[in-house]
Amino acid sequence: MSNELLEFDVIAEALIEKAQKDGAETMWDRKAALKTQCGFGEGGICCRICVMGPCRVSPSPDKGAQRGICGADRDTIVARNFARMCCGGTSAHSDHARDIVHAMYHSSEDGPFKIREEGKLRKIAAEWGIEEADTKETYALAHELAEMALMEFGKPFGTQNFLKRAPKSRQEIWERENIAPRAIDQEVVTLMHSTHMGCASDPESILRRSLRTSMSDGWGGSMIGTEFSDIMYGVPKERASESNLGVIDPEQVNIMLHGHDPNLAEMIAVASKNPELIEMAKEQGAKGINVVGMCCTGNEMTMRHGIKIAGNFYQQEMAIITGAVEVAVVDVQCIFPALPKLAKSYHTRFISTSPKAKIAGDMYIEFNEEDPLSCAEEVIKTAVMNFKNRDASKVDVPELKAETIVGYSVETTIGALDRVVNSQTDVTGTVKPLGDLVWAGVLRGAAGIVGCNNPKVEHDYAHITLMKELIKNDVICVVTGCAAQAAAKAGLLKLEAKELCGRGLKEACERANIPPVLHMGSCVDISRILHLVTLVANERGVDIAELPVVGAAPEYMSEKAVAIASYVVSSGLNTYLGVMPYVSGSENFMKLMTEGVKEWTGAAYVFESDPIKAAELIMADIEDKRTKLGI
Ligand code: SF4
Ligand code: FE2
Repeated sequence: MSNELLEFDVIAEALIEKAQKDGAETMWDRKAALKTQCGFGEGGICCRICVMGPCRVSPSPDKGAQRGICGADRDTIVARNFARMCCGGTSAHSDHARDIVHAMYHSSEDGPFKIREEGKLRKIAAEWGIEEADTKETYALAHELAEMALMEFGKPFGTQNFLKRAPKSRQEIWERENIAPRAIDQEVVTLMHSTHMGCASDPESILRRSLRTSMSDGWGGSMIGTEFSDIMYGVPKERASESNLGVIDPEQVNIMLHGHDPNLAEMIAVASKNPELIEMAKEQGAKGINVVGMCCTGNEMTMRHGIKIAGNFYQQEMAIITGAVEVAVVDVQCIFPALPKLAKSYHTRFISTSPKAKIAGDMYIEFNEEDPLSCAEEVIKTAVMNFKNRDASKVDVPELKAETIVGYSVETTIGALDRVVNSQTDVTGTVKPLGDLVWAGVLRGAAGIVGCNNPKVEHDYAHITLMKELIKNDVICVVTGCAAQAAAKAGLLKLEAKELCGRGLKEACERANIPPVLHMGSCVDISRILHLVTLVANERGVDIAELPVVGAAPEYMSEKAVAIASYVVSSGLNTYLGVMPYVSGSENFMKLMTEGVKEWTGAAYVFESDPIKAAELIMADIEDKRTKLGI
């Protein structure tokens, strides 16, 4: 079964049946128990911002309650609810980044946190204006840069340092529209304030402030998260990996790493290689220790270490249902609170590690930045000692996995592009070949496809369908998050996937020796996509909004994705959402999102749940951009 180009994931049904047989509850049982979901909630017109509420107003201007008790109408209520989703998403990405920066602040020559990419450290220190960035002692510089990065969260004046990467035209738009983000914490706090009872009621102003807050994620928290992780843990390089539940090895102690923050995962990767712990596993009758990744932790670890990906968001329960996972260890974000209960249907131990995401129901081993390895070692020992508790009658690991190439950081992508040029006569180390391919029409354009799974959409179907439609039309795809893992499982991250492409993209893939869908990492790594697009815009001397490039989140579910969509639109890229956010209860707010915002940023949100139709819209969008550029 391995290495086929799958339509989409085919193993869900068998494992859901297995869960029923094992008496285990899954998300599908809970979805069925909820019956019809709340229409007011779905339309975004239920307000519970104050305790005079909850106020549910009518979606129709002709009948039913038009205003909440305070007088807020549907436009205000929808706008405020949307804004608070942007706050939630921005907080998550940015607080993740803060932890990375803290770890860098604690880095030292002989401690567990080290600087592995000195070159990148010096480059970013220079970019941020630190004097003598090329000569300062490595760790002194790392600590200085970390302190400066911590100020990005709370500095009293000025805007985010990374904004200067953008084309001048874009920076001017952000200034003009007052959406250049200041300190990250300030943007979140001020938007929470604005949307408090009795503050802003003007939907346009609330949307504008939502964009600015989200910008502090994309060009602030997420970009810091990505760049500083690279400095500490290494710039991802092209490497082979495997993906899907078949990477769980029934003969080894399996540890499923789930969540987002590479700090814990990196320490577990180190500890899992400890010969004493491997020996201990062998004494327990296992062949070794097998660490597998889930969700964005999976992306981070596969990009830097080739650790195999067990699956994406909707597979977190299925991995446990295989009956062969000794420990599911998690940090933050996208973790079902259902997992500890599910783990009890098997022998699996569920371990949460972050004080920010303490999950009730099984074990908690706190990850302490000052002694990070002890938590990692305890997790591994727990897994090893749990191997003997496996119930062989409940073990059923699907023999399904796909070969995958991962690791397309901006640096690695530029390195791959160098294969397209004549190194004797042309400049190397730039994005010029990518611009040339797009300008020549060999590639029609590019799409960043990102985001989660959502049970409102057949899992992975929208991701894979959209990617296949676009590569068929010579649009190169860059992917992150669970979208990247969907692509991995479907075999789209392999060189052979070029056979599914149009002539131009196929030729480009052959010349650069890359797959047509490039794995760029985790959700915070959407900042890599922003950076790459920015480099191309700067190289061509155009604004980001002029490029034949789009963003898409076909199956998203989280607040983080709402913030992402908002910073991608603010960055000038039309963003195609396959799931409706909770805004349909206000026609006026929808109009602002799909049309009004275009006048501010040159881009808008597009709602389209059918991935075939979304692909048609994207192609029309890309061709329109090409015509306007005269290419
Ligand atoms: Fe109702 Fe207004 Fe309170 Fe919202 S803020 S719950 S609309 S009274
Ligand atoms: Fe993620």
